[in-house]
Amino acid sequence: MKKKIFIETYGCQMNVYDSELVKTILAEKEYLLVPEESMANIVMLNTCTVRENADRKVLNRVHQIKNSRHQKETILVGILGCMATNFKTKLLEDPKLKIDFIAGPDSYKQLPQLIENAWEHGDKSFDVTLSEFETYSDITPTRKDGINAWLAIMRGCNNFCTFCVVPYTRGRERSRDPYNIVQEITHLVSEGFSQVTLLGQNVNSYQYDGIDFTDLMRMISDIDGVKRIRYTSPHPKDFPEKLLQLMSEKPAICKQLHMPLQAGNSRVLDKMNRTYTKEEFLALIDLTRHYMPTANISTDIIVGFPTETDQEFEDTIDVVKKVEFDSAFIFKYSERPNTRAAKKFPDDVSEEVKTKRIMRLNDIQNEISLRKKTAQIGQIQTVLVEALRTKRSTDDIQTRNDANQIVILPKLDPPFGVNIGDYINVKITGATRNSLKAMFISV
Ligand code: 5AD
Ligand code: SF4
Repeated sequence: MKKKIFIETYGCQMNVYDSELVKTILAEKEYLLVPEESMANIVMLNTCTVRENADRKVLNRVHQIKNSRHQKETILVGILGCMATNFKTKLLEDPKLKIDFIAGPDSYKQLPQLIENAWEHGDKSFDVTLSEFETYSDITPTRKDGINAWLAIMRGCNNFCTFCVVPYTRGRERSRDPYNIVQEITHLVSEGFSQVTLLGQNVNSYQYDGIDFTDLMRMISDIDGVKRIRYTSPHPKDFPEKLLQLMSEKPAICKQLHMPLQAGNSRVLDKMNRTYTKEEFLALIDLTRHYMPTANISTDIIVGFPTETDQEFEDTIDVVKKVEFDSAFIFKYSERPNTRAAKKFPDDVSEEVKTKRIMRLNDIQNEISLRKKTAQIGQIQTVLVEALRTKRSTDDIQTRNDANQIVILPKLDPPFGVNIGDYINVKITGATRNSLKAMFISV
């Protein structure tokens, strides 16, 4: 029987990219990749463990998959990614879970062997070793969407923010050869991709034989045919001014930045080991707007970090109001095993207070997000066509602007048919919190 594989991806874009790597690794071994979980006899969940609710979601899913199958049917479930390295063999030892194999983010090349062991011998197999060298630069991801290519330029993280489990689940920083990256992007352009999103836990730490992240961005922006370059995420502590200048000069680099704040109070930031202060963060935003006055800036914020007082939380509100982020991902602090915060600081802000803070911050940010979107009404923008329908309607098409915002417009009548991957000019006619509405102007 041919082994049919389905991969379900949770968490960040790095996981989306990693699942594409896994697909290539397995396709080379003649596994059949199937489009639905119910068609597969090997299901892999590529997991995230950054917050507790991410773990819970995956564990529920494992039960659901195993219970949905007929008793006699062979169904293997494997856990890939960050949960694998965070919980290691504990996942396999739990009799209720019935997980068959696990592989950490640096062990994907071992997957065929792990699957064989589990399939042929019924062994619970695992590899959660972290590598100082693995960058998968020899594997070309199986990219399906044909528009945006995710591309990891580095892996791992050395920052050890006290709340974050990533340095433990993804190991130490290592960067990919820049010439190899340029070669891959040149090839992507020849395949029709015009947008590339560079990925790394902290892209500013990119370093390869004296080439830093700004040098790499310059090399990529000089590749013919690359129309949109994005990256995520930088760290405010070591964001170089020369990168802002380069971004302002190169039309191919999107004027869009994800700048994770985490907290607005300097004492809390210090306890988080973020190594910048409220004032330094605000100064960096000012500098960003000096080079790119209309840059779209998004952020991540954690509320209720251990010992954060109501007064200190007001500093986060103050930064949010001063910066006016275009959007923000706001999370309640979730204690993660192995992190420095879990070892040193009791999770002492109550759930009730965390809820109050997140609701208040979301209300403030939602108002800002909508106001900033509404201010774009009347603008002419160039958008990239992503889908010839939206989630809600087959009468609309979905596009994306330079700022990475979704722009929806009515389907065009012939002769103005557009295809996925086209760039068109539109006029913004409306705004909601999550998207913009527009009308077609020209191709
Ligand atoms: N609790 C809550 N949010 C967290 N993040 C990372 N670790 C935690 C945690 N323990 C958030 C940070 C990070 C984003 C990816 O997830 O804001 O930037
Ligand atoms: Fe986690 Fe901080 Fe590294 Fe980001 S920079 S992955 S928040 S430790």
